[in-house]
Amino acid sequence: MAKEKAKSVYVCNECGSRSPRWQGQCPGCEGWNTLVESAADPLARERHRFGGIARGAPAQRLADVPAVESARAPTGIGELDRVLGGGLVAGQVVLIGGDPGVGKSTLLLQALAAMSAKASALYVSGEESAEQVALRARRLALDPAGIQLLAEIQLERILATLAGHRPDIAVVDSIQTLYSEQLTSAPGSVAQVRECVAQLARAAKQSGITLVLVGHVTKEGALAGPRVVEHIVDTVLYFEGDTHQSFRLVRAFKNRFGAVNEIGVFSMTDRGLRGVANPSALFLSEHSEQARGSCIFVAQEGTRPLLVEVQALVDASHAPNPRRLSVGLDPNRLAMLLAVLHRHAGIASYDRDVFVNAVGGVRIGEPAADLAVLLALVSSHLDRPLPPGLAVFGAVGLSGEVRPAPRGQERLREAAKLGFTRAIVPRSNVARQPVEGIEVIGVGRVVEAIARVR
Ligand SMILES: Nc1ncnc2c1ncn2[C@@H]1O[C@H](COP(=O)(O)OP(=O)(O)OP(=O)(O)O)[C@@H](O)[C@H]1O
Ligand SMILES: [Mg+2]
Repeated sequence: MAKEKAKSVYVCNECGSRSPRWQGQCPGCEGWNTLVESAADPLARERHRFGGIARGAPAQRLADVPAVESARAPTGIGELDRVLGGGLVAGQVVLIGGDPGVGKSTLLLQALAAMSAKASALYVSGEESAEQVALRARRLALDPAGIQLLAEIQLERILATLAGHRPDIAVVDSIQTLYSEQLTSAPGSVAQVRECVAQLARAAKQSGITLVLVGHVTKEGALAGPRVVEHIVDTVLYFEGDTHQSFRLVRAFKNRFGAVNEIGVFSMTDRGLRGVANPSALFLSEHSEQARGSCIFVAQEGTRPLLVEVQALVDASHAPNPRRLSVGLDPNRLAMLLAVLHRHAGIASYDRDVFVNAVGGVRIGEPAADLAVLLALVSSHLDRPLPPGLAVFGAVGLSGEVRPAPRGQERLREAAKLGFTRAIVPRSNVARQPVEGIEVIGVGRVVEAIARVR
């Protein structure tokens, strides 16, 4: 019994203090509920979770360190390479999160099949049996010849297989199903997820294996498990999209080997995920006449503009606390926009339920969406559609000013290309050279924008 207990210690999430038993309050930083079970490793010094990254070496001048660009191996899936910044690097650890059924396993199996022609590939499935994975490969018409498969959830055995096979690339689907024998807590718990990711990342760094981990997300859309997992890995990708529709987006949240502003766009077909090279019109709904409460926003994702329909519904509320609900848009920004509307345009919504939605399951994080959301709200409030052929972008400040958005010209060109004839944009985004086919209206304050659509 005593022997078993010695296997784990409790480590504070905040200050890193260690304690041999669980305590409500950390003896180091005195924070509450911060102690989490961890493996007590006798060789902790060299087998520390960052051991593979920080090896003992004397300090040297930065100028003397050879700056060698790591070679990138393309995944063979163009849209995924775009998000990764050109491909995967040896020893890179990628974590990809997404809602259940969004297509994580499908995407990674496709990528492995494409890469297995040139590299040795290992797929570790903790969620599905080997037969299920084989069935999927057959359905997607993939060539399974170069892929090694391991259906396993015990970390130590996976590490042994990695050490034995030394694949160039390995996928672990998913980290929430793994467990380490050194810990007593259940798979998916904070302690298990942290330990498993740390050990896998260390193994990948030490042996130069490119490792792709699949992670579950919480109801709020963040990766499930401890935050430290996102710090350990090199790249965090989110796979999003409405599972009722066929479009899927892959977005980089963090990338130590490239930029994070690119998105990859896919459509889910019965033959798996297909890249969509020109996605700008995907997120427009299909009604032919102009709808009330709808406004077209010209988003800019990385180097590509994307037109997204923003819908709003402002309705009389019969509840003491009116509802505010936003799908695909930041609820805090919605609250701010409602306050700006009241203060600077005299449109009150304290007795109204307010719903906003970004069509097509896309998530918009750009502040440049503010003006489009605001005009959609105004349109629904007035029960009057916005003028036909209108596209909008611009951030809104608390004092009712409309702030510029980056890459305005590119957004306008894309809107014109898709047949939009008018655009309401921040005044400073109105360039001297006009964009052919689109009338550009520059506004400095939200009241001016509202006056243009009333
Ligand atoms: N027989 C089929 N024909 C067409 N599409 C299918 C078929 N089976 C599954 N799909 C599609 O694949 C999707 C599931 O993909 P996948 O299993 O890769 O998702 P996942 O993100 O790995 O899910 P989970 O989190 O549950 O592992 C389904 O939502 C569906 O759209
Ligand atoms: Mg899966």
